[in-house]
Amino acid sequence: MLKKKNIEEPFILAVVSGKGGVGKSTTSVNTAEMLSKMGYRTAIIDADIGLSNCATLLNEAVPYSVTSWINGDCSLEDLPHECENVTLVTGCDDPAQYNFQPELLMDAMDQVTLHLTKNHDFIIIDTPAGAGEMTLWALDRAQLGTIVLVDEPTAISDIYRLCKYVYSIDPGYPFASIVNQAESEDSAESTLKRFNTILNYFMRKETGYLGFIPASSSVRDAVQMQSTLLKSAPDSDVLNEIRFIAQNIIGFANTPNTEIPTTVHH
Ligand SMILES: Nc1ncnc2c1ncn2[C@@H]1O[C@H](COP(=O)(O)OP(=O)(O)OP(=O)(O)O)[C@@H](O)[C@H]1O
Ligand SMILES: [Mg+2]
Repeated sequence: MLKKKNIEEPFILAVVSGKGGVGKSTTSVNTAEMLSKMGYRTAIIDADIGLSNCATLLNEAVPYSVTSWINGDCSLEDLPHECENVTLVTGCDDPAQYNFQPELLMDAMDQVTLHLTKNHDFIIIDTPAGAGEMTLWALDRAQLGTIVLVDEPTAISDIYRLCKYVYSIDPGYPFASIVNQAESEDSAESTLKRFNTILNYFMRKETGYLGFIPASSSVRDAVQMQSTLLKSAPDSDVLNEIRFIAQNIIGFANTPNTEIPTTVHH
């Protein structure tokens, strides 16, 4: 793994959505691999407790999860699993293991995050759909809430409610969107515009734009093959879009107090 470090602080992203199945996990693993290819030490925390998917998407057998650590089956140092390009920590891959108070899990996840910040530039937290405790934990710890948006009324209304809730606690919370499963750059633009119009109308807020991922058989095939786009489709156009997303994330990490533009074209 490359060891270039030219961002000042470890940068944490929470990848969130309202509705499930919109592409959070595929976006997380492919963006993480791209950041790693660009020279940044990158870790993924799979915070989809009980139903983690990142290990499957990366075709990795991860021996220990955060819940196995809490249950005394391993130590903290055993949790980071080195994949070919990224480090992966799985929160919980077996719902039966999660049989304690949520506070204990949050505390353990905090310790894991702190541990990873020592030797990573980026930490991507893949969250479950919705506004549950792990999503709110991840958003609270992240420097950027990264919304995976798709062009469906239910997806937009669900993420609107999550954003509204977060803004009610922290009106300045930084969110930025990735439009997934877009038919074209223009349709990604109109999806984001629609979402930002609603946010603006009701809350005087807009989310920044990190990029879009086309609806593509390359993505579907990579999932089926339990592979990533860099490995299974290195010449795919989709990778250019993921590179654009990674570059925007790096830009924001280097200048975290600037506004992310809401325009789409690049
Ligand atoms: N850009 C895309 N093009 C085509 N198919 C896609 C794309 N992004 C995601 N998919 C498909 O959508 C499915 C769901 O993706 P994924 O598991 O990443 O969603 P998720 O938001 O993490 O779901 P959950 O809410 O269950 O965690 C995948 O099986 C994948 O094949
Ligand atoms: Mg997922």
